[in-house]
Amino acid sequence: EAFLQSLKEKSAGGELRGDYSRADAQYVVEQDWDSYTEAQHALWRRLYQRQERLLPGRAARVFIDSLARLDARERIPRFDQISEILQRATGWRLVAVPGLVPDAVFFGHLAERRFPVTVWLRKPEEFDYIVEPDLFHDFFGHVPLLSNPTFADHLQAYGRGGLKAMGLDGLPYLARLYWYTIEFGLIQDSDGLRAYGAGILSSGGEIVHCLSSDKPRRIPFELERVMRTLYRIDDYQDTYFVIRSFEQLFEDTTPDFTPIYARLAQLPPLPADTLLPGETNLPAEKSAAHQAQDRA
Ligand code: PHE
Ligand code: FE
Repeated sequence: EAFLQSLKEKSAGGELRGDYSRADAQYVVEQDWDSYTEAQHALWRRLYQRQERLLPGRAARVFIDSLARLDARERIPRFDQISEILQRATGWRLVAVPGLVPDAVFFGHLAERRFPVTVWLRKPEEFDYIVEPDLFHDFFGHVPLLSNPTFADHLQAYGRGGLKAMGLDGLPYLARLYWYTIEFGLIQDSDGLRAYGAGILSSGGEIVHCLSSDKPRRIPFELERVMRTLYRIDDYQDTYFVIRSFEQLFEDTTPDFTPIYARLAQLPPLPADTLLPGETNLPAEKSAAHQAQDRA
């Protein structure tokens, strides 16, 4: 299978973990909720509770509120039940997938307001770090914000933009946009500097690092700057880009990217740790909430 081969090359370990034998043409499978073991539900609960403790003062308030409404703390959630909640809020649904899926399939799901969630959960020894996205990352990190209308519309537009970019050699630029927003985005709102990216919010280490460490750069979001910037897949990010609102993200990505792709193809990419002359580097944020928590 050519698809699976290219997916394997994309995945860090060179091997994919999921069982693709039962997937349909859209790579959708049954969640088969009954096959999760009690040990897996218990691991889920531990992952959830560790991460939940870290959210106050660090995660965007809309993320915290949306997560609570999904009521997924005690057991691995049933995708069908979550889809009912999302459907009412924004018209999104979840679909179960074996793991990573080809770009065109991924974009196709997003364009139809379906979010693909990996069915398998990491092993206990992967509690703190996992190479390939698993159920915990996909669900805890990505699903809550699907109930925010502006974010939901943005992600659908991204899916449509992905299908379009495939014919324009735009995928590298679009992938960087996704990485620095949906996966590792920060937001500066009336509460202060907060995380909304799924890769941050599902990580016990990076959720602290991205806000509190003086090492990474935190630069106000600028579309073409982001699309030029390389990223790391093997360590905490060297740079985070900061939006002011999901409306800003939606509006800044609405223009036709066709001429932007053509322009960027003429420019060298920027290393992940670049700070350009004149760029703002926002200071680390130590809110009262997490100072108190860190002392406890
Ligand atoms: N506006 C982009 C285009 O014309 C599509 C897009 C929207 C991409 C939102 C990413 C996010 O291709
Ligand atoms: Fe992700």
